[in-house]
Amino acid sequence: MLGVCYYPEHWPEPWWAEDAAAMRDLGITYVRIGEFAWSRMEPASGTYEWGWLDRAIDVLGAAGLKVVLCTPTATPPQWLIDTYPGILPVDRNGRTRGFGSRRHYSTSSPDWLRETRRIVTLMAERYGAHPAVAGWQTDNEFGCHDTTVSYGPHDLAAFRDWLRRRYQTPEALNEAWGNVFWSMEASGFDSVPLPVGAVTETNPAARLDYQRFASAQMAAYNRLQVEIIRRHSPGRFVTHNFMAFFQAFDHFAVAEPLDFASWDSYPLGALEVSSLPETERLRWAETSHPDIPAFNHDLYRAVGRGRFWLMEHQPGPVNWAPWNPVPAAGVVRLWSWQCFAHGAEVLSYFRWRQAPFAQEQMHAGLHLPDRSRSPGGEEAAQVARELAALGPLPPMTQAPVAIVIDYEAAWIAQIQPQGRDFRYFDLVFQWYGALRRLGVDVDIVQSGAVLDGYRLIAVPTLPYVSDAALAALREADGFILFGPRTGSKTRDFEIPSSLPPGPVQELLPLRIRQVGSLRPGLTHAIIGEGVAGEAVRWREWLETELPAGLTFGDGTKALVGDGRQHYLAAWTDDGLLIEVMARLLGQAGLPVMRLPEGVRLQRRGRLTFAFNFSGEAWEAPCVETAHFRIGGRTVPPRGVSCWD
Ligand code: GAL
Repeated sequence: MLGVCYYPEHWPEPWWAEDAAAMRDLGITYVRIGEFAWSRMEPASGTYEWGWLDRAIDVLGAAGLKVVLCTPTATPPQWLIDTYPGILPVDRNGRTRGFGSRRHYSTSSPDWLRETRRIVTLMAERYGAHPAVAGWQTDNEFGCHDTTVSYGPHDLAAFRDWLRRRYQTPEALNEAWGNVFWSMEASGFDSVPLPVGAVTETNPAARLDYQRFASAQMAAYNRLQVEIIRRHSPGRFVTHNFMAFFQAFDHFAVAEPLDFASWDSYPLGALEVSSLPETERLRWAETSHPDIPAFNHDLYRAVGRGRFWLMEHQPGPVNWAPWNPVPAAGVVRLWSWQCFAHGAEVLSYFRWRQAPFAQEQMHAGLHLPDRSRSPGGEEAAQVARELAALGPLPPMTQAPVAIVIDYEAAWIAQIQPQGRDFRYFDLVFQWYGALRRLGVDVDIVQSGAVLDGYRLIAVPTLPYVSDAALAALREADGFILFGPRTGSKTRDFEIPSSLPPGPVQELLPLRIRQVGSLRPGLTHAIIGEGVAGEAVRWREWLETELPAGLTFGDGTKALVGDGRQHYLAAWTDDGLLIEVMARLLGQAGLPVMRLPEGVRLQRRGRLTFAFNFSGEAWEAPCVETAHFRIGGRTVPPRGVSCWD
């Protein structure tokens, strides 16, 4: 179940066989190679040097390793860019993003699509049937470094084509976007501008469509690669390595042709670049926040339709965050077991050996540049021994609670936050964390997917409620909690004619008459029987006959509901949200635990895992007959226990 990312082109060839043998000794099965090596595969246009890659795959295969081969399209080489400079992406200020790092391409450039087809076909033909090749990864981290969206001439042309297909006539487009406002009406598709570079804010409907278009381009680009690989590499899997909390494209759509999803977990880096408050980033600086890896595991299990890998995993400090601490002793092991507890099939560490040169020389690997094992490498070796002792892990079962997510919701919140800190993934993460503090497992579910069997369904916010999403919610048999701004927009980014929550009024008779954002420090009190807290960031004014479970300090209703459906008209503080969730879980007949801030539980089949991110030992409240498979009843600081 372990893998590693390896770059044979970075090391002298005589090391390869020794490295491969050492991988086997450490307990590694999968080795991912190739994703940035285009300049070595094709050093000049049409001049191919496959020999080194042939030998590398043979050497790894001879050691009994299974190769995950990547297409090298994240790094078009310099000669290619010099020949076709139109491949380069353009930023929102019209500046071309140049050669010299990676991901310098636009998915709308016809030259780029042709060159992609060429290199992927050559690789797939050459290695598709190689016995050591177990599967493929397309490209590397789509969208990384803000590369989902580009604003060049090819992008504009492709966008106009996309609009033509979507709207048929300019009149329909003008109507959908509300272009009569500020005389923005387009006389034809060829006069539609990019939604950037204007004097002030461009039309939000245009921006939402640009995001939909860019997401669709990404999905088409991935599909193009997958189809070529499938043609030449029968029986091998195809995956892609996604990123934590990344919202710039619809991951469900991009992952659709893949066998499973993968994601790259850098828990400390992700914490550093998160929007958690400074106090939280300090508290978790050397362990990460317990829910940061967990949320993304659950998310990518959904994106992968039940199957996911960790394609890259942090083994020590990274190099790319504002601060890059060393993980506390034991934490690489802790994170590793957390991956498996949430259902990962394979965990692949990034990278085998720290590179002493170039951009990532300060990034740890399982080995130091002198070839000795790093501290993180020692912990990985421990995980390998424990995995071997534990034997095969049981399959995941459906969690009792679902959180409904939607990438369009993230785009709408970003395009029109109406309060600087109204960030979609902040809200979803807060709701996830509240449930996890109460000890329940959570499945992430794509909006519109069937919700059968969930006892509680949390919808943190869903501004545009599609017909499919409404149907799934209508047919759900569990309790539902809707969060603020649900049903507040139509597909065309308009306020619904019946006022928010629009189509959700079919389930909950209420109207939102006013909304306001709350700047940091500005709060509105909320009270209920035995609980008190406050609205932060966002608050709404409801009009409804529904009974209230919570009210604002001014007497207006904050949480309303009738039977199974509930609506929360605010972004609340964490403590109050936990109380709201605890009540609903209780009503739904689910047992509630009160876990400490640094402790989390997760079930995988008959196994229960406990993870202690804190500095104090924790006593697991399991039955006397629990059979411990890892650790014991007392879970030490930064420790893991697992019982049957
Ligand atoms: C990932 C990327 C890797 C490497 C790594 C460093 O985002 O896929 O190539 O850059 O980060 O943490």
